[in-house]
Amino acid sequence: MGTAMSESSTLDTRHHSYSPGLEGVIAGESALCLVDEGEAGLLYRGYGIADLADHSTFEEVAYLLLFGHLPTPQEMKAFAVQMTEQSLLPRPVEAFLDVVPKGSHPMDVLRTGMSILGMTDPEAGDNSAEAKVRKSVRLLAQIPLFISAADRFDRGDPLRPRHSDLSFAENLLYLLTGQKGDDRAKAMARVLDVSLILYAEHEFNASTFSARVTASTMTDLHSAITSAIGTLKGPLHGGANEAVAQMFLEIGSPAKAERWVRESLASKRRIMGFGHRVLKNGDARSAIIQRHAATLSQICGDHRWYEIATTVEQAMRDAKGMYPNLDFYTAAAYLLMGIPRTLYTPLFVCSRITGWCAHVIEQQSHNRLMRPRALYTGPSKRAYVPLDRRT
Ligand SMILES: CC(C)(COP(=O)(O)OP(=O)(O)OC[C@H]1O[C@@H](n2cnc3c(N)ncnc32)[C@H](O)[C@@H]1OP(=O)(O)O)[C@@H](O)C(=O)NCCC(=O)NCCS
Repeated sequence: MGTAMSESSTLDTRHHSYSPGLEGVIAGESALCLVDEGEAGLLYRGYGIADLADHSTFEEVAYLLLFGHLPTPQEMKAFAVQMTEQSLLPRPVEAFLDVVPKGSHPMDVLRTGMSILGMTDPEAGDNSAEAKVRKSVRLLAQIPLFISAADRFDRGDPLRPRHSDLSFAENLLYLLTGQKGDDRAKAMARVLDVSLILYAEHEFNASTFSARVTASTMTDLHSAITSAIGTLKGPLHGGANEAVAQMFLEIGSPAKAERWVRESLASKRRIMGFGHRVLKNGDARSAIIQRHAATLSQICGDHRWYEIATTVEQAMRDAKGMYPNLDFYTAAAYLLMGIPRTLYTPLFVCSRITGWCAHVIEQQSHNRLMRPRALYTGPSKRAYVPLDRRT
């Protein structure tokens, strides 16, 4: 790119570093998350992801990210009460859902819904750190209701109520699929809970970075989250989990998987759920969710998605030396749960809202406006020709 410089450029790569896609660039400081390919692995505020996935709940992780420490039992109880109290959708949000064009993608509905949640937030005009934490908890409680309502309105089905005696993941499973209470639903909720823990935070990924860029203008929390939702939707980022499920459905059976991968690669198709900008030697989160997807396949007595996934994984390892990312086995698990496919990326939002909000709060606590430079590749200065003299 450096060679494309015109003489008139004021910036050049001899004096400024330039990395397409900001690859390898340190764009800010954060105490929230370490993404390390070495021994440390992935840490949320210092806690290892395997420990969190094995021993904590999504509620604990959400609290950790938003409040800075793991909750005591009393704090956990108070947090659950707060979540229950905040689990309401304002009337204008329901009125909006009523007029959403049928068949709209839930990520589009959520992006616009986030703006309305911002306008109707009782503390809309308060951008203090304390209000931002309260708004974050409110969003954590509201988003599951919102995505369930968006799906139910679209189908013309009655809304499902949230149950205050169920955990966050149990509620989510119930709101999205109607399943609760029995052993199978409990096993599904546990796997859903783990997926939420794994999705909660991942440093300066594209959506978090866009939230931080927006936050760096000192705008409100909901504006930054709206930016993040639009960014997450893309298939190279959060949209990949839905795309992986689509791929599994297209493959159809384990026996067809290896050939499907070979033919897809031959036609230069990208295989969704593989690769990562930072993690080039595998994603520790993938191994965790794979284990849970395997267990869930046993419990459900349905091995099709898991076997397709393991065959695709092996074929990708043989052909490209590439490893699955978090979205890959998560899609197999969500298929087993019977969650509607277009809700997979919104589910990512249900979890990542914690990381995004924590980043917005962190950014604004010691802010510097994000305003990088561009390497100009256009023409040198040229003379303006008036319209009537142009041919
Ligand atoms: C995530 C992703 C955007 C990271 O990409 P990146 O760091 O910019 O890597 P690049 O696009 O430079 O790719 C490097 C090489 O790997 C290949 N590659 C990367 N991801 C691939 C995939 N999923 N399937 C097939 N080939 C892939 C590229 O074609 C490229 O090959 P080449 O050098 O022969 O041209 C990319 O891996 C991808 O598109 N993955 C699929 C979508 C996905 O799962 N997203 C969720 C991410 S958590």
